[in-house]
Amino acid sequence: MKPRKIKDNIYWMGFVDWDNRLFDSLIPLPDGTSYNAYLIEGSEKTVLIDAVESNLFDELEVQLENVSKLDYVISLHAEQDHSGCIPQILLRYPDAKLITSTKAKGILMDLLHISEESIITVKDGETLSLGDKTLEFIYSPWVHWPETMVAYLKEDKILFSCDFFASHIATTDLFVTDEARAYEAAKRYYAEIMMPFRNIIKKNIEKIEAYDIDLIAPSHGPMFPRPSFIIDAHKDWIDGTLKNKVVIPYISMHKSTKKMVNSFVSSLVEKGVSAELFDLTVTDIGKLAIALVDAGTIVIGTPTVLAGPHPNVVYGAYLANALRPKTKFLSIIGSYGWGGKTVDILAGMIPNLKVEIIDPVLVKGSPSEADYKTLENLAETIAAKHKEQGFE
Ligand code: FEO
Repeated sequence: MKPRKIKDNIYWMGFVDWDNRLFDSLIPLPDGTSYNAYLIEGSEKTVLIDAVESNLFDELEVQLENVSKLDYVISLHAEQDHSGCIPQILLRYPDAKLITSTKAKGILMDLLHISEESIITVKDGETLSLGDKTLEFIYSPWVHWPETMVAYLKEDKILFSCDFFASHIATTDLFVTDEARAYEAAKRYYAEIMMPFRNIIKKNIEKIEAYDIDLIAPSHGPMFPRPSFIIDAHKDWIDGTLKNKVVIPYISMHKSTKKMVNSFVSSLVEKGVSAELFDLTVTDIGKLAIALVDAGTIVIGTPTVLAGPHPNVVYGAYLANALRPKTKFLSIIGSYGWGGKTVDILAGMIPNLKVEIIDPVLVKGSPSEADYKTLENLAETIAAKHKEQGFE
């Protein structure tokens, strides 16, 4: 794709990745993604903000065809999807300097073997004059690496936010046109990548809200011409009230756990609590992550296999622990044949979750009427706790 004009002397560059279905060999990409770089031609200096993976340099090189002089490459975030081809860019423009945060300098040198002489570091709040345009660098650590910063183009009121406010969508739209679609993709991105750092991200949001922003230009997905839409969404995900909802990641091998899950969901619904089920043999992990953002309670459903939880459930529990949702309650339900340490193993895997553990319901063999009654009691307990907490 050719460079696309955003405003006078400001262009989108990069790569729209329609086909990638797995990011970082970890994160599902149902809608593909994009890697956005931005070229700004000031009256005196020309800069490129962020770049693309090294294997995509050919795409960027074609887009840079008519850029005879590049003064600076700015790396807002050292991860390779935005920094990978910076060595190739510096080879093409040997007089260009790489501008980055003090923390990113070492990371970029480690990852890309860039020479120290090529790098200029900027402090929080430092500005760079391009002649008729001015960039201000704002440190915004831990979105989602320690070195991250954003850049504010004062005269045009554009915030270049890199991964902050990003979303994985492949689209030909430069700007968000469908806010419902953008909301879902951005929530997925937040859930999978940003949620563990939400407390510091909250501080970063407070910091950038001091600026008059007309446009947010992230490194993945379309730009936001209505910044309050995406900023308010993040505030809600970080601080909003939890939902009167139970998220149930589960596995069933011989249908006993599945029967328990079905009965439990029915009881929850009767008591006015909604539920979202995720069969961990087939689920899109991103969908589960989205559900965790505002779940009042998590109930893990698992059979006992090899004396412990099913391995896919172990993965689900590990993921939930890593993502650190603000969920308040957790329980475990499932079936076993003759014994095991399923509850102990799972309970020991979630130290990051600040949850109250509600008594698990583990059943020997196929569930009986008495077991269904115990599950109903569990639903009752959860409904009462949600009401007490004011979950909506
Ligand atoms: Fe889009 Fe953290 O890289």
